[in-house]
Amino acid sequence: MFARSLPAFRPSLRRGFTTRSVQGLVGAIGNTPLIKLEKLSEETGCTILGKAEFQNPGGSVKDRAALGLIMDAEERGVLKPGGTVIEGTAGNTGIGLAHVCRARGYKCVIYMPNTQSQEKIDLLRMLGAEVYPVPAVAYENPENYNHQAKRHAEKTPNSVWTDQFDNTANAEAHYKTTGPEILEQVGGSGNIDGFICSTGTGGTLSGVSRYLKEHAKGVQTWLADPPGSVLDSYIRSGGKLKERAGSSITEGIGQGRVTNNLAPMIAKMDGSLTIPDEKSIEMLYRLLDEEGLYMGASSALNVVAAYELAKILGKGKTVVTILCDGAYRYQTRLFSRKWIQSKNLESAIPDHLQKYVVLP
Ligand SMILES: Cc1ncc(COP(=O)(O)O)c(C=O)c1O
Repeated sequence: MFARSLPAFRPSLRRGFTTRSVQGLVGAIGNTPLIKLEKLSEETGCTILGKAEFQNPGGSVKDRAALGLIMDAEERGVLKPGGTVIEGTAGNTGIGLAHVCRARGYKCVIYMPNTQSQEKIDLLRMLGAEVYPVPAVAYENPENYNHQAKRHAEKTPNSVWTDQFDNTANAEAHYKTTGPEILEQVGGSGNIDGFICSTGTGGTLSGVSRYLKEHAKGVQTWLADPPGSVLDSYIRSGGKLKERAGSSITEGIGQGRVTNNLAPMIAKMDGSLTIPDEKSIEMLYRLLDEEGLYMGASSALNVVAAYELAKILGKGKTVVTILCDGAYRYQTRLFSRKWIQSKNLESAIPDHLQKYVVLP
């Protein structure tokens, strides 16, 4: 009952060094803290915990997938010393891949939709990646960034298209690391009632859910969707795939199809929720104000979802979600008055939190 009987926290500047030094950058991926969100836990009478994936060296949950995909390519013998890693990515997987490529001596080529933030594109280039921002078109279109990445790899000797969406080495990385870490951090089976998060590739949700369902008695695993994604309706309708319609301010999440990473687990989900952008932006500002956490929009959406799931499961339960990345990569949008107005979200931010909208 570790998570439910946490001793009162006594702040201290002394830090305990409980881990040994690690082997290079890749050794620093994972083993992130599990943070109790105090105010939201108090409000719901539950324990709401966020896995601090923004603390990975590349700044996001996608470092785990990046390392898993590269290790898989090495193990399969398709990536040899001096080779090139090629991926289609909305940004964070690319950043993770670029870091791991530098640490392991590979070249890195990234295709991404040109709707993504400039901060992410710049960072990829600073990390030495060759970046191709391409028009954001549907997966069915041959010019979609994933297909372009695949074709680039077909033309490049000693290269691998890591295929984060359908290569299940992605979910496997979360099955082997994120899932076990969460279970250990809550104090083992019986101490976690719910896990919920949104999906891009579905690697995180699928890998963590599979591990928890195998090892944590009675745990429920739920999917959270942004507007414009089809997975919530897919689950609620018992497997009917609708056309993608609408959009969201969140980046890196939302899906128009069931990826190979998600496929083995989607029918095993206990439920799903769609979270409107109004709630995500409000939570983004609340996390900053109440918890001191400077989070990106997918993390804020995940926390709203965890809050809703806590209310569904009832008082005394423990619910875990993922804090995917920080706001640093999106700050020129998320804290800009003009941008928030352009998304019709100004009124979603309560008056006492308007002071955080500091950019024109
Ligand atoms: C900011 C952010 N949050 C969440 C996700 C979703 O993670 P997954 O691909 O494991 O579903 C991504 C994926 O790129 C992301 O960039």
